[in-house]
Amino acid sequence: MNFDNYVNLMKGRLCKKRFEHSLRVVDTALGIMPNFKTEPDKVRLAALLHDFAKDMTHQELLTLAGRQGLITCKAEEVQPDLLHGPVGAYLCQEELGITDAEVLDAIRYHTTGHVSMSSLDIIVYLADLIEPGRTYQGVQELRKICERDLTWGLLYAFDYTLQYVLRRKFLIHPLTIEARNWWILMNGGTIWKPKK
Ligand SMILES: [Fe+2]
Ligand SMILES: [Fe+2]
Repeated sequence: MNFDNYVNLMKGRLCKKRFEHSLRVVDTALGIMPNFKTEPDKVRLAALLHDFAKDMTHQELLTLAGRQGLITCKAEEVQPDLLHGPVGAYLCQEELGITDAEVLDAIRYHTTGHVSMSSLDIIVYLADLIEPGRTYQGVQELRKICERDLTWGLLYAFDYTLQYVLRRKFLIHPLTIEARNWWILMNGGTIWKPKK
């Protein structure tokens, strides 16, 4: 299938709002891509397909994820929306025949992040959060940080995600904590030095 076929497939699969979001994620991902060493075709495909399972109901996500052994923590059971990444990656492999592990991982982890994120993972994760249709509190600041430095943007994106989860008293996905700790360890272990 070429890219246009995938676009048509997503148009038929997602509601209008989410389809348009997916196209904006593609554009945003291609916009930030030059900061990384990665392949444009993979960026376009992973960005387009990242919400493949987003329009499934919670029950559908739980049933499919349970049957395929995709549930990894209590947070996913209680907040099944967290499963749309792993279920989306599974379906892209099974239904679309996508075998590229990098593309599948970018889809799988686009909501939570994970340890040792690849360039493609980071591009899709950030593009999803900063695409021009996003209006959540703090998005303008996150866009500005990403314009200056995408590495810092990733840390701030983890923080925004965690703050959102904390404000709503949701369960925190362990992968997001691990991803944030990984980022800090990769960047010297401590960011904020105590005053002496
Ligand atoms: Fe998503
Ligand atoms: Fe999305």
